[in-house]
Amino acid sequence: MGETGPLCLADMARLAEAALPPEVWDYVSGGSGAETTLAANRTALDDIALLPRVLGGFARACTGCRLLATDASMPVGVAPMAYQRLVHPDGELAAAEAARVAGIPYVVSTVASIRLEEIANVGADIWFQLYWQRDRAVVEDLIARAEQAGCQVLMLTVDLPILGRRLRDMRNAFSLPADVVAANLEGAPSRAHDTVTGESAIAAHAAAAFEAGLGWPDIEWLRARTSLPLVLKGILDPRDAVLAVESGMDGVVVSNHGGRQLDGAAASIDALPAVVKAVGDAVGDRCEVLLDGGIRSGTDILRALALGARGVLVGRPILHGLAVDGARGAAQVLSLLATELREAMTLAGCADVAAVRDLSTVEC
Ligand code: FNR
Ligand code: LAC
Repeated sequence: MGETGPLCLADMARLAEAALPPEVWDYVSGGSGAETTLAANRTALDDIALLPRVLGGFARACTGCRLLATDASMPVGVAPMAYQRLVHPDGELAAAEAARVAGIPYVVSTVASIRLEEIANVGADIWFQLYWQRDRAVVEDLIARAEQAGCQVLMLTVDLPILGRRLRDMRNAFSLPADVVAANLEGAPSRAHDTVTGESAIAAHAAAAFEAGLGWPDIEWLRARTSLPLVLKGILDPRDAVLAVESGMDGVVVSNHGGRQLDGAAASIDALPAVVKAVGDAVGDRCEVLLDGGIRSGTDILRALALGARGVLVGRPILHGLAVDGARGAAQVLSLLATELREAMTLAGCADVAAVRDLSTVEC
């Protein structure tokens, strides 16, 4: 890397791979099956070409916006990711601190390795991502804790009835080290530390703890339980986006879980336009459409907004920054992204986020 240090998110990824134990790198970077969808998330974004505008008459682009209930410095949130102490001892505290410094929302995972209340004390704008537990009393407790901790949005992940078949983790017989736990599910039995040849302990834990049979009636139950803005994460089919809107959801995340669930699912960016149209036809802009999966640059953010997303979530790059230098590394990732976004907006003739949404694209 030379003395310049990382100049883009790909540079940080290379440093993270060198810094992490191979089995942890595999858990973070891996996808399910043949990793077709993991690869497609990236190649589909590269196939989106932008038509920059000229003579915008401004010198500095403004990246600020509002994402659901949160004012943000840029249309970016930190995606919910499990067990962040796997990559750095400060884990979610460091990632939340980076989000606070960057001025963007941080989404706490149900399977975070630090308690939600401790993460909330960092002072970032936090959202809570819910995995529906088999024991509904645990679900009720998690919702109450999220509300009491000041979470601004409740995000239910709906693309994980079971964990995708993660071959890297199975080959590694991946399991959590003793000092990394699902801190918000304490007391619940967990198989995430059981090392079994040919198996992922994360998959075993999910199968034992998460409710695989979640259905739309449960979404109606959830809508009635909280006044927080509600978002469904893991929507790809526009018909499900319409069902989400009809169930009173305030947002959806077009996502294939970073290629970690159904291998062969569409790339997020390819699924986005139809979801945006279906939601817009149903309720205009009452329901916000976010996207995640493969976002690695300012230009990628422009691509997603030009195709109708209100904002994006970024996943793995945050863990890469954590792995390299804790909160400082994650903050550097977000700073690089903010710089790239501002420069890309300026080069595309977009003075603000609304103008980005008006950009035209062509398929390469
Ligand atoms: C995830 N993701 C995830 N999603 C979720 O709803 N709850 C979770 O606990 C996790 N855990 C998790 C761990 C790791 C290591 C990764 C890489 C991902 C999925 C995540 O929120 C997001 O959908 C994808 O990571 C987005 O793709 P990129 O940005 O990582 O390419
Ligand atoms: C994963 C689950 C925990 O993708 O969300 O690893």
